[in-house]
Amino acid sequence: ASRHPVSIDAATEVYGVIGHPVAHSKSPVMHNQAFAETGHPGVYAAFDVMDVAGAAAGIRALGIRGVSVTIPHKVAVMAYLDEIHDQAREIGAVNTIVNNSGRLIGHNTDGYGAVQALLDHTEIRGKTVVVLGAGGAARAVGHGLCSQGDTRVIFANRTEKKARHMARDLGAEFVPMGDLENSRFDILVNTTPVGMHPQAQAMAVSESVLRPGLVVMDIVYNPLETLLLKQARDCGCTVINGVGMFVYQGAAQFALWTGLEPPVDQMRQAVYDALN
Ligand code: ATR
Repeated sequence: ASRHPVSIDAATEVYGVIGHPVAHSKSPVMHNQAFAETGHPGVYAAFDVMDVAGAAAGIRALGIRGVSVTIPHKVAVMAYLDEIHDQAREIGAVNTIVNNSGRLIGHNTDGYGAVQALLDHTEIRGKTVVVLGAGGAARAVGHGLCSQGDTRVIFANRTEKKARHMARDLGAEFVPMGDLENSRFDILVNTTPVGMHPQAQAMAVSESVLRPGLVVMDIVYNPLETLLLKQARDCGCTVINGVGMFVYQGAAQFALWTGLEPPVDQMRQAVYDALN
């Protein structure tokens, strides 16, 4: 529950998430906690949406101030916005809409979220990071890491050709899955849905690539400890669950919408409370 409830009245700004499905989204509790903590007069709801064009028109018509965009609309929504921020254009997807007096501006905070989540636990400059996967999430995470300058990024994916293409696009490298075991790297990030319900008993990578001292992050947070993280912990790795990236991508959204410093600790606590 919120500690400092703000009253909801005619001056209240409306925010929300559009996606499908969104019934289990933790974005509403996280952002409403942030509004409560800062006293910003906002309220955040979940909109289960299939019709993206209609949703964009609705955002304009109703003056909804800010929107999170989630699966499956992150790419499709771009066609309905007035402006796409550089980062989002380079990632090729939008996870955040800012309604600037009727101009809808698309941003992407996912790569930033992944980088911040790692930085809570490890240095990344001068390090080598293997990104598992070559889909939309991998692209956002890889873009965030590549933007760090002094971080070496290597993609590995079940379908090798996709990892090769993504690496070329982002100026990164790729490695065949089978060669990971003999590759030198400091950090491993899983961006695939493997490990998430209903693939909870699976890992996107062989256990043989794990070794003590490695930092392993999974962007999946349902379950909180994926099989990959459990094996990694047993092996003596530093493990980072998916809550960090989720909270930091949301914190960046909150900052874009309100111009305020996001109350990250309280946002994280609200997410953990909602997951338990
Ligand atoms: P997202 O936008 O969430 O990243 P996506 O674009 O569908 O989703 O990408 C999913 C990624 O997870 C892909 O890299 C996919 O591998 P392929 O390119 O070989 O399809 C990977 N993935 C999904 N299920 C997987 C599985 N069971 N084993 C290994 N990789 C898997």
